[in-house]
Amino acid sequence: MKSVKVDDLQIGMYVNLGKGLSSNTILEAQFLIQNERQIANIMDQGLESVAVDPARSNVDISDYDDSTTELDVPDDFDPLENIAAGLQETIQDENITPREKAKAVYDHSIQMMKAILQKPSSENILHGKEMIATLVDHILVDDSTAECLTQITSHDFYTYTHSVNVGMYGVLLAKAIYKGAPDHNMKELGAGFFLHDLGKCEVPADLINKPGKLTAAEWEMMRMHPTYGERILANSNHLNETIRPIVVQHHEREDGSGYPSGRKGPHIHEYARICTIADVYDALTSTRSYKKKLSAIEALRVMKEEMISHFNQEMFGHFVKLFIKH
Ligand SMILES: [Fe+2]
Ligand SMILES: [Fe+2]
Repeated sequence: MKSVKVDDLQIGMYVNLGKGLSSNTILEAQFLIQNERQIANIMDQGLESVAVDPARSNVDISDYDDSTTELDVPDDFDPLENIAAGLQETIQDENITPREKAKAVYDHSIQMMKAILQKPSSENILHGKEMIATLVDHILVDDSTAECLTQITSHDFYTYTHSVNVGMYGVLLAKAIYKGAPDHNMKELGAGFFLHDLGKCEVPADLINKPGKLTAAEWEMMRMHPTYGERILANSNHLNETIRPIVVQHHEREDGSGYPSGRKGPHIHEYARICTIADVYDALTSTRSYKKKLSAIEALRVMKEEMISHFNQEMFGHFVKLFIKH
C-alpha cells in the first residue's frame, strides 16, 4: 500500500479508504477510480491522503511519497471521543475565524455521522448526541458561524454528508422559526435532524445510490427507512417525542403525497416539516450518482415553483431568508 495525497489522485488508481471511512452499507471501502467524480467525492471527505494499492492500480505510482503515517489507526482508537475533543478545541479557539470554525464544525460532524452510520450502537449514538448538543449550542450563540454554515457547499451523495447537511440546515431553520422560544428542545431537535436518515444504514448502499429509476420492490425497501430508523433508535433508548416525528414523518408531504402514512398538512408534526424542507433542499443541491447538483438559487426556485405544495409555506419563507445576505 502507498499513501497518496488526495490532490495527486488519478483515474486508474485502486484506493482503499480504510476502516475509518469504510462501511458495509454506506461507502465502498476499496475501488478502482474510474472518473473525476469519484476523485471529487474522496476530496470532499476532508482527508489529506488515502492508501492506494499499486498491484491493483492501472497506473504507475512508484514515485509517490509513502512516508505519511496517518493511515495507521491504532486498534483502540475511539473516533467519536477524539472528534468531540477536536470540535471543542476548535470552537473555543479565539484565533480561528467564524468561516474556519464553520468548516471545522462541518468536517467534525461528517466524521461523527460516519462513525454513527457505521455502527449505530447505543454508545455511539449517545456520543454523537453529546457532540450535536455542543454544536447546536454553538450555532445558537454564534451568528457569524451560523451564517457561514449556510455557505458551505461541500456536498456528495453519501448518507453521512447528507445527514450533516440536513442537520445543519434543520437547526438553522428551527432557530429562525422558534427564535429561542424555551418550549423547544433545540439539542434534541438537532439530534433528530442529524439522525433523520439513520434507517438508511439498513438499506443496501447500491440501492441508495442507484442511477435511474428504482423498481417497485426496491422503492418499497427504500420507503422502509423511516421505520427502520425509528426501530434502531427505540432499541438503543434514544427515541423521544422530539426525535420520533422527525425520523418517522420526514417524507410526509403537505399535500398528502408523501410516505409512509400519507399524512396531510397539520397532521404532520412541525419538526418533521422543518426537516422536509432541509432534506429536499440538500437533495437538490447535492451531486448524486444520477444527477447534477443545482445552485442554491436554482434549488430554491424549483422548490417554490414546482414543489411548493409539499411544504409548509411559512416555514419555506423562513428558509429562503436564511440564504439572503443581510
Ligand atoms: Fe429520508
Ligand atoms: Fe434525507
